[in-house]
Amino acid sequence: MFIHRKIRIVLLLVGLCGELAAQKVPLLTLIDSALKKAVLQYQYLGTQLAPDVLPKTYYPLTKKFETSGSRWWTSGFYPGSLLYLYEYSHDTALLKEEKRVEKIIEKEQFNKGTHDLGFMMYCSFGAANRLNPSREYEQVLMNSARSLSTRFNATAGVIKSWDHGAWKYPVIIDNMMNLELLFWATRFSGDSSFYKIAVTHANTTLKNHYRADNSSWHVVDYDISDGHVISKKTHQGYADYSAWARGQAWGLYGYVVMYRCTRDPQYLVHAQKIARFITTHPSMPEDKIPYWDYHSPEIPATCRDASAAAITASALLELSRYTTATQSNAYKDFAEKVLRSLASPTYTAPYGENGGFILKHSTGHLPGNSEVDVPLTYADYYYIEAMLRYKAMQQKN
Ligand code: GLY
Repeated sequence: MFIHRKIRIVLLLVGLCGELAAQKVPLLTLIDSALKKAVLQYQYLGTQLAPDVLPKTYYPLTKKFETSGSRWWTSGFYPGSLLYLYEYSHDTALLKEEKRVEKIIEKEQFNKGTHDLGFMMYCSFGAANRLNPSREYEQVLMNSARSLSTRFNATAGVIKSWDHGAWKYPVIIDNMMNLELLFWATRFSGDSSFYKIAVTHANTTLKNHYRADNSSWHVVDYDISDGHVISKKTHQGYADYSAWARGQAWGLYGYVVMYRCTRDPQYLVHAQKIARFITTHPSMPEDKIPYWDYHSPEIPATCRDASAAAITASALLELSRYTTATQSNAYKDFAEKVLRSLASPTYTAPYGENGGFILKHSTGHLPGNSEVDVPLTYADYYYIEAMLRYKAMQQKN
């Protein structure tokens, strides 16, 4: 008993020293070390996988490693992370593994049953095509954009998110993340219909999903007979009125992409408003990793969502390129704090632990008691992306 207490105290002190040291190290040095660790961890993660599945999460208490098939919305993040880590390390084993798994998800290009094709196909094949352009990749991406476009309804002006549940034509804020694929399709093919769908969806979402305080509802349900809004609800958040943390991050990232792809200033203004909501929220903890919902009544005795933090950091780094120096520094400063926290032992798992995932402490769907305080494949993806963005920005300066 006494020995256990001593070990616990030693571990606590080691952890504290690690965290204090991490605060002092220049962020670029910390990021290089974190990326090196990430490469090793993902090499390990690859050894945990059966041939035909993608990693999803890991339950530390029960040591249960959970995978998914290609239809699950997160299937593109593992190949996407492998490609980012390959870009960083030039480790051809990572590229080989990515080529293996892209074959598993390739068939989803014809999936017309989900709005998640942007996540699934653009984070994977979009990146593969960016690194090694090919006719095959282009075909996959064009087919994916066509499949996603079939879910657009012109009367309501939105892409339908889900086919399940009692909703009529539900749109979740997450759907903003799937529009980048459509912009790519117009750039590649010259067919402006993809661009128009993306802009219409973003405009309808801006009008109906956002509240006066610049937080967003999670789900808005439409009646496509005349396009009116039936209801505004939550699915993964605390309450209909609350601000589900990852939803705020998806919205921020989505409108930053809208600005990048259109240069329409209304999207920049909107992204800045969302950024203000997130970065100045009174419930945001000191380490800048938000609780899973900004309005959870259990704060501070509830879970964080490292995935929301990683998405936010990546989006803020891009947003900082489009704003005035003072604002840009504030966005970078916030993103830096997030990255320092995520790189610390509190959030980064040691090699070979955490099922092979990089980050701990994300929350998938707390009200559904699913993926609570666990690693998530998209937390890793946006964390790696944010670190690479930070490195690239420093190299330019
Ligand atoms: N798109 C689902 C989620 O963010 O959990």
